[in-house]
Amino acid sequence: MGITYNVNGKQFHLFNAEISYFLGICPDGEVGQLYFGKKINENQTIAYGQTKGVRPVCCNTKEDENYTKELAMLEYPAFGNGDFRTPAYEIRQSNGSRVTNLIYREHRIYSGKKPIEGLPASYANTDDEATTLEIVCFDEIAKVEVTLFYTIWEKYPVICRHAKINNLADDRVVITKALSMCLDLPDSDYNWLQFEGAWGRERYPVERSLSNGITQIESMRGHSSANYNPFVIVKRKNTDEFMGEAIGINFVYSGNFVAESEADTYGKLRLLMGINPRWFEWPLDKGESFETPEVIISYSKEGLNKLSQSIHAFMNNNLVRGRYKNAPRPILLNNWEATEMNFNEEKILKIAKKGKEAGVELFVLDDGWFGKRNDDYAGLGDWFVNNKKLPDGLKGLSEKVNDLGLDFGVWIEPEMVNEDSDLYRAHPDWVLGAPDRTRTLGRHQMVLDFSKKEVVDNIYEQLYAAFSEANISYIKWDMNRSITECYSLGGDPSKEGMVYHKYIMGVYDLYERLIKAFPDILFESCASGGSRFDAGILYYAPQAWCSDDTDAHERIKIQYGTSYGYPVSMVGAHVSASPNLQTGRNIRIDERAAIACFGTFGYELDLNEISDEEFDMVKEQIKFMKEYRSLFQYGSLYRLESPFKKNISAWMVVSKDKETSIVAIYKNLKTPNVGQIRIRLKGLDPDGVYKINDQKEAYGDILMEGGVQYPEGDNEWFFDDGDFSSRIYVLKKNVTK
Ligand code: GLA
Repeated sequence: MGITYNVNGKQFHLFNAEISYFLGICPDGEVGQLYFGKKINENQTIAYGQTKGVRPVCCNTKEDENYTKELAMLEYPAFGNGDFRTPAYEIRQSNGSRVTNLIYREHRIYSGKKPIEGLPASYANTDDEATTLEIVCFDEIAKVEVTLFYTIWEKYPVICRHAKINNLADDRVVITKALSMCLDLPDSDYNWLQFEGAWGRERYPVERSLSNGITQIESMRGHSSANYNPFVIVKRKNTDEFMGEAIGINFVYSGNFVAESEADTYGKLRLLMGINPRWFEWPLDKGESFETPEVIISYSKEGLNKLSQSIHAFMNNNLVRGRYKNAPRPILLNNWEATEMNFNEEKILKIAKKGKEAGVELFVLDDGWFGKRNDDYAGLGDWFVNNKKLPDGLKGLSEKVNDLGLDFGVWIEPEMVNEDSDLYRAHPDWVLGAPDRTRTLGRHQMVLDFSKKEVVDNIYEQLYAAFSEANISYIKWDMNRSITECYSLGGDPSKEGMVYHKYIMGVYDLYERLIKAFPDILFESCASGGSRFDAGILYYAPQAWCSDDTDAHERIKIQYGTSYGYPVSMVGAHVSASPNLQTGRNIRIDERAAIACFGTFGYELDLNEISDEEFDMVKEQIKFMKEYRSLFQYGSLYRLESPFKKNISAWMVVSKDKETSIVAIYKNLKTPNVGQIRIRLKGLDPDGVYKINDQKEAYGDILMEGGVQYPEGDNEWFFDDGDFSSRIYVLKKNVTK
C-alpha cells in the first residue's frame, strides 16, 4: 500500500494490493481523475482522456485552446469555468460572483489518518494501516483554499475522501455547496443501485439503469432517512453477487444528503455525494474553515457480495469504536411491544425475571420511564424518572434488575420535546420553528434546536445525572420525527442556512460527550426503526435498530437489503410477539429467531405470555446464539438467494478460518409441486469435509459447486411446515483431505 507522486507526470498513485486510484494535475493546474479500479502497475504515467473540444461551444482556457473542462475528468469541479456538469462545490464571494477556479498549490503525503473535527470519520488503529494524501488547491481571485483529502487502506479496497475549505480573503464568503467527493469515470455504462423504502420497509435495493442526465437520491428530513439510504452502488450492468465490477459509496453522515450521478452526452459519468446543498449556506469569515463529512468509496471486481464484505470488515475495524468493537453483542430483552408506556416496577421486573430464566443478558426499559410520559403527548425533554411508575427511581430498578443477574439499559429520545413538558414551558424558544408560523408536529412532538449549544448542554446535564444515578449498561437513542420549519429562533438571520448541519453536529457532540463520560455504555441508535441507519451514526452507536417492522417475513427483506452497505454487527434484530404488531401476521417463533440471529439478537415481547413449548425454544435459541453470535456478527456474509427475487431466500456466514459456517434458507409462501431448488454455498474450504447439523458429511467443493437441494425430503414441500418456514444448517469442518 502507498501513495506515490510522479514529479514529471504530475500524477499521484494511491494503491494497495487490490485497487489503484490515479489522479493528476491537469494542464491548467486543476486536479483531475485518471483511473480508478483494479490495481495496475505502480510506476506508470496515465494519459488523460479526451479533453479537446471539437466545437467552439466547448469552452477552453485562453492559454490552451486544446483543453476544455467540459470533457475533463475532475476531482472537485467548480461552477462557472467551462465544466457544465454538476459542480462539487459553490462559493458566493463578497462581490456576488460564484465563479471559482481551484489550482494545485502543494501536497502532503503521510502515514495514518487525521480525525475530522466534530464529525464521525474512519480512523487508522495504527499509522501503518493507512496512507493519506492532502492536495491543497487555491483560487487566486477569491483567495479561497481547498484541501482535498484521500486515505487509502492497507487491508481494504477502500478510499476515504473529504474536503476542507478555508477562507483566506478579507471578506466573508458563503459556501452554498460543499460535497465530499466527485468521481468522474470515463464511461457511463453502469447501473445505479439505491436502498430505499419508508418506515417499516427500509433499505430495499432498487436498481436503475443510468441513461443520460441526472440520477439522484437525497434527504431533506434532517436525518439520513428510511426513504433513501446514504449508500449507493454503481455497478456494471451484468455485475451480480459474485462477479463483475462495482463501486460503493457510503456517506459517513446522518443529516441531509445528496447522492447523484450525471451521465453526460459524451459518455462520461460523474458521481457526487455530500451534504445536500438545498437550504445549505455556510458563511466563512476571514481565517475560518469548513470541513465536509467523509465518504467511503469501496471497489470490487468480483461482484456485490465482495463489495459488501469489504465494507463490513472496514466498518467493523475502522469505524466502530469502544468496548463493543468486534465484541459479541449482548442478548437483550426490550419491554416496548410487551407494555408500551403502561408499566410499573412490578410488571417490568416480572418480564425481566422471565428473560433471565431464558438466558437473556440485558434488560432494556423502553419509552415511558421519565417525566409525565404516559402517552406520546407529554414528557419528552424531562429526563428525570417518573416516580409514580418507578418509586425507587432508575437506581432502584437498575439494582433490582442487576440482582436478577441482568445488565440494565434504558430508552431516550434526547433531540425531542413535547409541548407538555417542564423543558418546553421553561424554554419555548429552544425548539426549531419558523417565526410566526405554526409548527408541524410529528408524533405530537417538536424538535429541539440542537444547533444551539445551550440546548445540547441542558440535555447532556439531564442525561448525565440520570445515567450517573443508576447502573446503566446500554442506551437506545431514538429519534422519531423528521425536521420541519428548520429555523433557529433568535439566531443571526444570515446564518440560518447553517442550521441543518449544526443540528447534526449537535447530535454528534452530545453522543461524543456521553461516550466520554460513560465509555462502557453500549449505544444503539434508533429512528422510528431504521430512519437514521448510516455510517455516521455507526461511529457513535455500534448498533442500530434496523426497523420497527419485526415481522419475520418482512425482516428478511429489510436485513438482506441492509447487508449491502452495513455489517451484521450493526443490525438490531429481535424476536417479537405473534401476531406481529405491524403486519398482524402469525409466524412461528423459530422462524422469527431464524432471521433475528443475523443481527444483534434479542426479544421484544413478554416471555411470560408464550407457551411452555415456545419458552423452551427461546431457551434453545439463546443458547445457540451465545455459541454462534460472533460468527453471525463478524463472520464473512454471503448472500445466496435474494428475497426480492424468489419465493426462497438464503444467506450464510463463514468463520475467517473456514472451520464453521451457518446457512439459513427461508421459504416464503408454500407453493405445491415446484420441485427443488439448488443453492450453491460459498466461502467454504473446498477440500474440507463439513459435518452438517452433526449428521451428514459433505466436501466443501460439492456444497459450493454442486450446491444443496431444498427442500431436502421428497414430500417435505407439501406436508411440512407451511408458509414462512426456514432451515438453519450449522457446518463444522472435520478433516481436510
Ligand atoms: C420508536 C421506536 C420503537 C420504540 C418507540 C417508543 O417507535 O422505533 O422501538 O422505542 O419509539 O416510543
